[in-house]
Amino acid sequence: GNKQATTLILFGATGDLAKRKLYPALYRLYKKQNHFAVIGVARRDISHDDFRAIIQESLENYTHRDDDIQDFVQKFFYYALDVKETEGYTGLKSLCDHVDSEFGLKENRMFYLSLAPEFFAPVTLNLQASGLTDNSGWKKLVIEKPFGRDLKSANELNEAIHNVFKEDEIYRIDHYLGKEMVQNIQVIRFANPIFESIWNNRYISNVQITSSETLGVGERASYYDHTGALMDMVQNHMLQMVALTAMEPPSRFETEDIRDEKVKVLRSVRQITTDDIAGHIIKGQYTRGTMPNGNVVKGYREEDNIKEKSMTETFVAAKLFIDNFRWAGVPFYIRTGKRMTVKSTEIVIQFKDAPQNPYFNNFNDIQPNLLVIHVQPDEGLSLKLNAKKFSSSGDTMPITMEFSNSDLTGADAYERLIQDCLNGDSTNFTRWDEVALSWEFVDSITKAWNEKNIPLDRYESGSMGPASAYELLDKDGLHWWPLTKVEK
Ligand code: BG6
Repeated sequence: GNKQATTLILFGATGDLAKRKLYPALYRLYKKQNHFAVIGVARRDISHDDFRAIIQESLENYTHRDDDIQDFVQKFFYYALDVKETEGYTGLKSLCDHVDSEFGLKENRMFYLSLAPEFFAPVTLNLQASGLTDNSGWKKLVIEKPFGRDLKSANELNEAIHNVFKEDEIYRIDHYLGKEMVQNIQVIRFANPIFESIWNNRYISNVQITSSETLGVGERASYYDHTGALMDMVQNHMLQMVALTAMEPPSRFETEDIRDEKVKVLRSVRQITTDDIAGHIIKGQYTRGTMPNGNVVKGYREEDNIKEKSMTETFVAAKLFIDNFRWAGVPFYIRTGKRMTVKSTEIVIQFKDAPQNPYFNNFNDIQPNLLVIHVQPDEGLSLKLNAKKFSSSGDTMPITMEFSNSDLTGADAYERLIQDCLNGDSTNFTRWDEVALSWEFVDSITKAWNEKNIPLDRYESGSMGPASAYELLDKDGLHWWPLTKVEK
């Protein structure tokens, strides 16, 4: 219906994210009968038509398109603005009023900030000062990470935007929460009593969450070199996956109930102290190496616009504990990095071994049961079991039961998240207390790393990270399970 008829005011409209992800997602939403118009805002002085050409190019590069594309781009308008200058917002407001009335949009406004965080506060204040947020319809603020650099800066940012938007009008994007299989974690867990009843420290040995990438820092040097993998991936995506894997069943499947449970997990994650940091939270940086496709790639410090002696980590591996009833004693190992062997995200639940017992002495090579949630590239679920080898007297062999989604027409993360936002559903966005607790944890790591002078371990591009990341599990008599679904 038309209830979510919306004007989307997109800051950062000529940026990389907009072109790669947002315009293709908006096109698909348009095809699903969503009613909206878009005002693109950026610094460059270009015309509406120039802007429409950018949209068209984005669609050509990143999505399937039909002959309705002309109609689609007619809904796009452009406004050049130096976002820090208050005066410029008056013209933006006039354009917005004009677009609202022309398209019958009821003054519902979604302000989407695809900008560096230092602009969040000035932009929201300017929106307010110009009257853009005095609209008669609803208003929403969508913001991309990074949400601050530590708890303190995140807090300041939060206070600034709360001057203008209420918490339930703020949509903090963590695009992992838009991924099909991340959304599926709750269903797999809570709709299947056979899993939920053993989802605890009596039956689970450990959990391993990996998100590996083959790409290097690419064009994002200036952002990445003062961010690093801990802030770029762990503070948000990795901790969100931990929270969803570990949380208690919510009292209802409703937004705040689900978020409440995630918050409880984050509150139970054991803080890192300087005494236990060494060998516990590993940081690495890629060096020159050969990728599996044969390409020889530069080391991080040789990349364009990266400081020659940069100490920024491009890899993190960590062993976490969740100090609550369900998880006491179960390590959660996480790792993420750039320029690794494969691009893959998987959550592996390793169950405890069958009892070692003289009656079972034939079972010499039984493997632990594993439940693997394949987040990407192939979405699916697999369960590793043991069975008798056919036609043998008692030898065993591992077997895998597998589900893999073959429907490739599904929505992508951004399409799902923008749709949720249009519908006013903030379940798959992060609430402030989740963000704050994540920063608190990440801050404890940064502090301990600094105080203990934790070394930056080098790993060759094309490998799965430094040796120390293997030792992390070796010491516990475990190992990382090889990733099974990888992008070719
Ligand atoms: C982003 C990070 O949030 O996630 C990037 O800033 C990273 O550095 C990306 O490459 C990974 O996302 P995906 O969806 O490709 O796993």
